[in-house]
Amino acid sequence: MTEAILLVGGKGTRLRPLTVHTPKPMVPAAGVPFLTHQLARARAAGVDHVVLATSYLAEIFEPYFGDGSSLGLHLEYVTEEEPLGTGGAIRNVAPLLRSAPGEPVLIFNGDILTGLDIQALVTTHQSAGADVSLHLTRVADPRAFGLVPTDDSGRVTAFLEKPQTPEEIVTDQINAGAYVFNRSVIDTIPAGRPVSVERETFPGLLASGAHLQGMVDSTYWLDLGTPQAFVRGSADLVLGRASSPAVAGRCGDCLVLDGADVAEDAKLTGGTSVGREAVVGAGATLDGSLVHAGAVIEPGAVIQDSLIGAGARIGARTVLEGVVVGDGAVIGADNELRSGVRVWCDAVIPDGAVRFSSDQ
Ligand code: GTP
Repeated sequence: MTEAILLVGGKGTRLRPLTVHTPKPMVPAAGVPFLTHQLARARAAGVDHVVLATSYLAEIFEPYFGDGSSLGLHLEYVTEEEPLGTGGAIRNVAPLLRSAPGEPVLIFNGDILTGLDIQALVTTHQSAGADVSLHLTRVADPRAFGLVPTDDSGRVTAFLEKPQTPEEIVTDQINAGAYVFNRSVIDTIPAGRPVSVERETFPGLLASGAHLQGMVDSTYWLDLGTPQAFVRGSADLVLGRASSPAVAGRCGDCLVLDGADVAEDAKLTGGTSVGREAVVGAGATLDGSLVHAGAVIEPGAVIQDSLIGAGARIGARTVLEGVVVGDGAVIGADNELRSGVRVWCDAVIPDGAVRFSSDQ
């Protein structure tokens, strides 16, 4: 059995306003808080002890997951008084780890949806005799990421900041947010101050001659840090393109949770999910979207690739495309919102107030 640390303390600023009341890992995707999918996948890979490194809205996690026994896990929680960054968070939970110095500890960013073969990462780590191993994924456009080139044996040769020129794009491999650390390496991270594992710990280890191993695994991978990525990830879970033992129902074109009230002629497609006690009115069309608990979609609304917060209300015939609506917001009838608009929690937009196209 292996133990794991999950980094779940970030502020999730790119996902606001969904993260105003809810920490990013607790925002529901395919019917359950996103973190449930990660915990279930870790459990399926043989992990039995998980420490959650919490900071922002730390109090939301434990009431939901408790001691983890419903997932077959032993879960513990550590809260930072001040955010310690990714490396500081890892160091801060060290006293709760049970592994011996040479044993592997898994570490996961709390916002990655991936089909990574977790056991293969541990096996690669052990057979390479590495100090730290990283899951690497390949992306079509690496410009927005830190690059991680490796040699023929998979050993990491550098950590490169976001490339600015084409010559600087020396690889399409990026850090995918899942690591194996030997327990003894965790104990070398400085305690009691903020540390970035990506910007300080990894380059520092490399410079000191440590063995960092990369494992390229090109299965499904998505960083759910932005609203568009989050809604895509949820839809992919519902559609079965991304696999998780924790999807709250059978995979298919849509997922409607118990207690939701969906009109018979409403059309739900593209992995749309509808939360508990939500209402979808007659003739409404929802494609690739995520409707949280208690939201109301009035008749004839057309919603695509959008995220509707808990208890929000979308007026009749309103069109949303690529939009995030915060918890409790009210959008009146006959509005048209597109292209990354973020409507804040509890905001009120009157009937016919916002359009992208002419009303004629
Ligand atoms: P943005 O603010 O939108 O960039 O999101 P974020 O706060 O989640 O930051 P980022 O995506 O870079 O974080 C990567 C992972 O590390 C996420 O799972 C975060 O929850 C976690 N994380 C980031 N900073 C901290 C921290 O200070 N403490 C803890 N415990 N976790 C952190």
